[in-house]
Amino acid sequence: MKYTVMIPAAGSGKRMGAGQNKLFLKIGEHSILYHTVSVFQEDPNCEEVIMAVKPEEQVVIEEILKQDQHVKPITFVKGGGERQNSVAACISAYKGKGIVLVHDAARPFLNSSIITELVRTANEKGAAIAAVKAKDTIKYAEDGTVKETLAREKLWLVQTPQAFQYELLKEASDSAIAEGFLGTDESMLVERLGHEVQVVESSYDNVKMTTQEDLAIGEILLARRK
Ligand code: C5P
Repeated sequence: MKYTVMIPAAGSGKRMGAGQNKLFLKIGEHSILYHTVSVFQEDPNCEEVIMAVKPEEQVVIEEILKQDQHVKPITFVKGGGERQNSVAACISAYKGKGIVLVHDAARPFLNSSIITELVRTANEKGAAIAAVKAKDTIKYAEDGTVKETLAREKLWLVQTPQAFQYELLKEASDSAIAEGFLGTDESMLVERLGHEVQVVESSYDNVKMTTQEDLAIGEILLARRK
C-alpha cells in the first residue's frame, strides 16, 4: 500500500553538542540524514517525501540527498520553532488523502517491514505507532523521590514512524495548534481527540541519534548491516 512520508529535519540537535545540525554528522560514509531518506527512496510504496528544513540549510541538504541515485520527488517546506510546527508545515504541503507517515530524520536505521505493518494498521484503524517494549524497570519520581513503579509489561518506548489516515492527523494537528497544546509526538495529538492509536512492535535498532553515545551505536548498527 502506497504512502507519503513527512520528515521533520529542522532541529538544531543541541543535545548532540556538535555545533551544527546533528543530521549532517556521518555514520560510515554518509550523513544521518542521507541514511534516513535512503530508506524511503528505496521503498517502492513511498510515493513522496515532504521534508521540513531550515531555509538556510536547504541547499546543503539537497546536495547531500543528490548523492542517492534514486529520484523520488522531495518537497521542502520551512520548519518551525518546535518539532510539532515542522510537522504541521509538512501536513499543510500534502495534497493527497491517503496514509501518511511521520518519521524523524534522526532515526536512520528503520527497516521497511516496520513501515509496511504501520501503513497496513493505520489504513485499517486510523493511527499506528512504532514502539519497543521497555527493557528496564521504569519509575515515576518527583523531586528525586520515587512515587510509583510502573508495570513494565505495559510500557512501550515510542519511536517514529507514526502512521495516520491523513484527515485524522490534520484534524489532530490543527486542533493542537489552535489550542496551544505542544506534544512530543503526533500520537499524543491524536490521543487528545479521543481516537485510539495502535502499537506496532518495532526494532531496538531504530534508535534516535540524540547524543554522542548514539553515534557510536550507529556505527555498530551500520557495520552489522553490511
Ligand atoms: O531533537 P530531536 O531529535 O528530538 O528531534 C526530532 C526530529 O525533529 C529531528 O529529525 C529534528 O531535525 C526535527 N525537528 C524539526 N524542527 C524542530 C525541532 C526538531 O524538524 N523545530
